[in-house]
Amino acid sequence: MWARSVPYDEFARLRREAPVAWFPDEGSGFWSVHRYADIVAASRDVATFSSGRGVSFEEPTDEDMAARRTIIDTDPPEHTKLRKVVSGAFSQRAVAVYEHFITELTEQVLDACPASGTFDFVDAVAKEVPIRVLARIMGLPAADLDLFIDLGDRLIANTDPDITDVVWGRDDTDAYRRYPFRSPYGKQLWDLGRQVVAGRLADPGDDLLSRLLQAEVDGDRLSETDLDNFFSILVVAGNETTRIAIAHGVLAFCQYPDQWDRLRADPALLDTATDEVIRWSCPTHFMRRTAAADTSLGGATISAGDKVILWYVSGNRDEAEFADPDVFDVGRNPNRHLSFGRGGPHLCLGVHVARLEVKLVLAALARRFSRFELAGEPRRIRSNFTNGLKALPVRVSR
Ligand code: HEM
Repeated sequence: MWARSVPYDEFARLRREAPVAWFPDEGSGFWSVHRYADIVAASRDVATFSSGRGVSFEEPTDEDMAARRTIIDTDPPEHTKLRKVVSGAFSQRAVAVYEHFITELTEQVLDACPASGTFDFVDAVAKEVPIRVLARIMGLPAADLDLFIDLGDRLIANTDPDITDVVWGRDDTDAYRRYPFRSPYGKQLWDLGRQVVAGRLADPGDDLLSRLLQAEVDGDRLSETDLDNFFSILVVAGNETTRIAIAHGVLAFCQYPDQWDRLRADPALLDTATDEVIRWSCPTHFMRRTAAADTSLGGATISAGDKVILWYVSGNRDEAEFADPDVFDVGRNPNRHLSFGRGGPHLCLGVHVARLEVKLVLAALARRFSRFELAGEPRRIRSNFTNGLKALPVRVSR
């Protein structure tokens, strides 16, 4: 179903008829939360809706969690401490220094595209920018870049046999269950991270990794496991998500050319257009929480230990929050979408980097291309978690 399309109509029906519904499938079953207001309420109440069992459908053991826990899988007070270490590096002011770099990188990537005619936008553009921005933020050596990109791809699209030969749910072995995504590529990513860390220890710079190495949490340095996991969450959370937003943005502009004309005619709309692209694309369909106590949400009675799936993709189309939610409107304001999470402490750490990247890529595209048209069927990644496109054939006009 997800490989074909996002089931927006089905979510609309669930919002009307079963706002918080129990689905007995997927292991031990799960509560499925569809309305905007309930999603925000659960995100806010971290004491009841815990992130401590992870944010995916997976059912990890305590040992798995201990080895693989990243910031996204922690609750306060541990979360608060970890977040304090990295938040400065991701503030709006701190990331503004990358503006020039991102614009130059985007221009280079666009220079390499055919001047007009048909090409795959995911391969040629959307995939190229985010990982290179991350590599820059983390201070990765250029020699490691290709491996870094390859590992990022194999991990994120880990349910799609077109992209990885180790498919989650099909090829799981206990040998890798303590590594990110239960994958040998997760182990390779950690190994790469350790090499890079060793380089930074020997020769510190002003990049994020060097700062993490020097950071202290309550007088303690981050452990080796914390560092491994920071390295992997940044790759996993910051690469494909931004790629999806950029690719789906262009798909939306193929489908609604009037909105592209409107944005090109009025670059003052770039900020609202960026957030509309991010609402529309909702790169991460859901986040999971686990009930830490018996509670109720949206009329449902939830028991301690139950898995609770917050469908951001449904909340982003909730008619109770958004006027005409199924209309793509580059001037939408307000736009309190859920794509970065909302209401709780886990709000995407990379929110300012992501917005800056999407905005600068849109600006560069608007300077160059007067029209995008679909030149074939977009191909979706087989995943209920990310809204990824693996191919987006487009025809561009100058
Ligand atoms: C359009 C792009 C992006 C989207 C849609 C996105 C989405 C999200 C979402 C939904 C969450 C979890 C929120 C929750 O639990 O409620 C999250 C957390 C996170 N994101 Fe992003 N993200 C994007 C880009 C980035 C980038 C570029 C980075 C890093 C450079 C990043 C790093 C993180 C980290 C580290 C977390 C965990 C934060 C925490 O648990 O405190 N993200 N992101």
